[in-house]
Amino acid sequence: MEYLSLSLSLTLACLGNAALTAIAQNATAEALVVSVKFCISARTCDNLRHACHWSVRDPYAKTFTNPLTNWTANLLHHNTALDDASNRLVALPNVDTLYSLAVLHLSAGEVVTTMPAWEGRFYVWPFYDLYANNVCNIGTITNSTAGKYLIKCHPSDPGCVSEPERGDYAGLIYLPMVYGLTLLRIEVGNTSDTTHVVCWIQPEFSLSPIPSHGNCGAPALTKALLADNLTVSNALLYTMQLLARFAEYNPPEVSADVPHIAATLKAAGISTSAKKYTQPAHVNLTQAYSDAQAVATAVKTIPADFVSLGGGWGTPAPALSGDLHSHYDMRAFIAIQGYLQLQASRAVSPSFASPSGTLYTN
Ligand SMILES: *[C@@H]1O[C@H](CO)[C@@H](O)[C@H](O)[C@H]1NC(C)=O
Ligand SMILES: *[C@@H]1O[C@H](CO)[C@@H](O)[C@H](O)[C@H]1NC(C)=O
Ligand SMILES: *[C@@H]1O[C@H](CO)[C@@H](O)[C@H](O)[C@H]1NC(C)=O
Ligand SMILES: *[C@@H]1O[C@H](CO)[C@@H](O)[C@H](O)[C@H]1NC(C)=O
Ligand SMILES: *[C@@H]1O[C@H](CO)[C@@H](O)[C@H](O)[C@H]1NC(C)=O
Repeated sequence: MEYLSLSLSLTLACLGNAALTAIAQNATAEALVVSVKFCISARTCDNLRHACHWSVRDPYAKTFTNPLTNWTANLLHHNTALDDASNRLVALPNVDTLYSLAVLHLSAGEVVTTMPAWEGRFYVWPFYDLYANNVCNIGTITNSTAGKYLIKCHPSDPGCVSEPERGDYAGLIYLPMVYGLTLLRIEVGNTSDTTHVVCWIQPEFSLSPIPSHGNCGAPALTKALLADNLTVSNALLYTMQLLARFAEYNPPEVSADVPHIAATLKAAGISTSAKKYTQPAHVNLTQAYSDAQAVATAVKTIPADFVSLGGGWGTPAPALSGDLHSHYDMRAFIAIQGYLQLQASRAVSPSFASPSGTLYTN
């Protein structure tokens, strides 16, 4: 199932108040399913832990160490220490990987990434939209050419483009929306190797904006945009308000979904043009949250969504990993289990289903 059932084709004028409330209630639950990853992205950008406490098993709540408390968009922040169980940049980190994180903002222009020649070690440089769809990866697994890549806001066909029209780039990276995230992962061997990577390799990876070519006009992405005048003390109100503020510039990855999502947001009380959320009369946000959680957690009961790895372990089907396209329910499920998942060709995300049905993800 890709959408909650929602029948907006009914003539609204003919409906009684109860039916109108039911439509707004369903639309609110669906809006929460659509936006949970967005909300977690906002938290990643601003440590808004209380504002986006959405997760059923919040892997970030206690251990999340955010290097971006004082971030600048389009600047790569290198984590110079390895993560472990008590100190995590990502929810469930690899302990042999140095991570670097950046918030991407493309409305003031394109951004150029520079990737050094690889020296036999593994690294992957993934690019995500703000809904955490992993739309493109460069690095060793893809045998990507070292050099410069141009990141553009390009809603119609997001992904990696290996034959750029401008010869000074090794490739293009099309993001479906104006904002995004990136989380570079570099493998290290031992303590002295970590020092080597921090001193000599991390600095070779960089981002640099080229002003003026922006084609997806939007306000600069700042901490103020993520928090000012929003109800950060109430996770559900905050999520809806955030969606209202950002939806116009950050459309769904799949352009065919735009009309449906727009109708859903409207029915849920979101005005994308006024960038305002007005809770419809009688809509119960707590109930919508619980319905949205049920949709996300139901994903694990659908056998077709997972590939068995044996012994009770499974991993999301390749089409449901990393880049989720129209699979909003799976996207919400992954959001509340982990975050910034890679495409299946880049990483395995095994889960273990215990006899009680609890799913543990890695
Ligand atoms: C945040 O970054 C700015 C610009 O780099 C710097 O001037 C300021 O001191 C930093 N603030 C904190 C709290 O680190
Ligand atoms: C990368 O290069 C290696 C060695 O030439 C090759 O085995 C592998 O298939 C290539 N991978 C891709 C994704 O092209
Ligand atoms: C640490 O890793 C580096 C790079 O892989 C290697 O050259 C070096 O021999 C290793 N040192 C130890 C003590 O294992
Ligand atoms: C918050 O509201 C104030 C007063 O209306 C306004 O000046 C400011 O631009 C708003 N901030 C954001 C990020 O919308
Ligand atoms: C809203 O829904 C929750 C969860 O179903 C319920 O406990 C609560 O009583 C409802 N609130 C109102 C005002 O109906």
